[in-house]
Amino acid sequence: MHAPAPSSGYLSDVTFPDRFHRELSPAWLNYASVLGGARPKALDRPFRYLDLGCGFAHSTVVNAAAFPHAEFHACDFNPAHIEAAQRRAAQLGAGNVVFHEASFEALLEQDLPTFDFIVMHGIYSWVDADVRRVVRALISRRLAENGLVYLSYNCQPGWSAEAPLRKLMLELAQAAQGGIESRTGSAIAAMQALGNPSFRYFRDNPSVTDALTALAKSPIDYLAHEYLNGTWEIHYSVDVIDQMAEAGLGYAGSATLADNHPALLMDRQAAETIAAMPNARLRHLAEDYAVNRRFRRDVFVRGARAGQSQAEALRHLEALPIGCVSDIEQIDTRVAIPRGMLSFQTEFIADLRTLMQSGSMRIGDIVARLGSGGHNRRDILQNLLYLVASGALTPFAQAGGYVEEGARRTASPAVAAALACCVGDEAPTLVPCEALGNGVSVSRTEATQAQRWLAGEQVERPARLARLRMLCGA
Ligand SMILES: C[S@@+](CC[C@H](N)C(=O)[O-])C[C@H]1O[C@@H](n2cnc3c(N)ncnc32)[C@H](O)[C@@H]1O
Repeated sequence: MHAPAPSSGYLSDVTFPDRFHRELSPAWLNYASVLGGARPKALDRPFRYLDLGCGFAHSTVVNAAAFPHAEFHACDFNPAHIEAAQRRAAQLGAGNVVFHEASFEALLEQDLPTFDFIVMHGIYSWVDADVRRVVRALISRRLAENGLVYLSYNCQPGWSAEAPLRKLMLELAQAAQGGIESRTGSAIAAMQALGNPSFRYFRDNPSVTDALTALAKSPIDYLAHEYLNGTWEIHYSVDVIDQMAEAGLGYAGSATLADNHPALLMDRQAAETIAAMPNARLRHLAEDYAVNRRFRRDVFVRGARAGQSQAEALRHLEALPIGCVSDIEQIDTRVAIPRGMLSFQTEFIADLRTLMQSGSMRIGDIVARLGSGGHNRRDILQNLLYLVASGALTPFAQAGGYVEEGARRTASPAVAAALACCVGDEAPTLVPCEALGNGVSVSRTEATQAQRWLAGEQVERPARLARLRMLCGA
């Protein structure tokens, strides 16, 4: 534990949980923004990426290993976070990450290059207005033209019933004794004692009782960072749009991919009511009310949406690679979407599985292959986008399949290092995958099989890792 004394009131006497967020991948963000009409990023060329408030920087370090030709920067003022992130980078041999153990305020004064991506996960609702201004100044100064920003935050109206819980928790924690962890634990215990139907707040807001049950099961370090910072601000999406507009950015889409498809979120009546609203700003806000949204993963772009024809935007979308990260059989005829379940024709899914067996493909190529039997190309495109939104398919960085030639090997030393970690770890490990441009969760069993196959043993080649081109050779 370290206890620096930052000025902004953000907690530093307990570390944040070590979490991986697939939405922070450049390939994922590129997909979300192109879907929203932005111009694509050339991910096969050098680019720069900055993670502000990186915590343990799990995603950023794995992404750095998945994009060895790019330059990643990770900033956090908690020394324990940066030390752990540096250890992980060293473990993977990812030499393309520059770590900044610094506050955003200090970073603003540094001589930095410009960035094609600036990401902030779990920052904007948890720092005060001055720090948010600094963050926007950093974006304004350091984001390249056409650059993307990922910004996640708590939003209304989804927090309207539960927001008073935070005030209660903060006051209870402040009145308790001990360090931050024991005060957090005391606050949760006291809230559970209060959370009974004789307190009208709980009786009148049944969802709050469920929230309290969930809170009591959450890790203490997460609760401390989520609820006990000096600031905990819930934003309205249109206000965040206004703030980003001041920094010269426009909304491009959501990294919660289903959120880009209203048909997957709400019924026809809600969609028609929203469509009839007088402007885009109101439609954007009303959607949060239609789904009672409480968390957003917004992607903003500097400049790049302007001047694109619809045909050009479609061409860019069709050039994006997508594929299957799980076992192919898991591409099902029924997939879960926010509104419920969505069904596809058995034949369509069977043909898609056959195609995906040989690796990731550009969307346009899949449409061309599946559309050759007279199927409607527009419907096929929509089905593919819905399958990506449901998680059955995933945005990739590259199109292609298994490389059969040569000796058995891993795609990179980083894959070998990560597989070695998987073998020594009970929990699945995120292994950097250049084809995906993201981390792939690998179990100990799968990693052990891969290592035995790599060592030349007579075991079956791990099909999924081979298809993802993390393993190559005959
Ligand atoms: C909720 S955590 C999110 C960590 C990480 N992005 C993730 O999602 O796993 C917020 C992080 O921002 C860092 N942070 C908060 N205020 C900061 C500031 N003013 N300058 C630098 N880092 C800051 C904290 O130390 C913490 O690691």
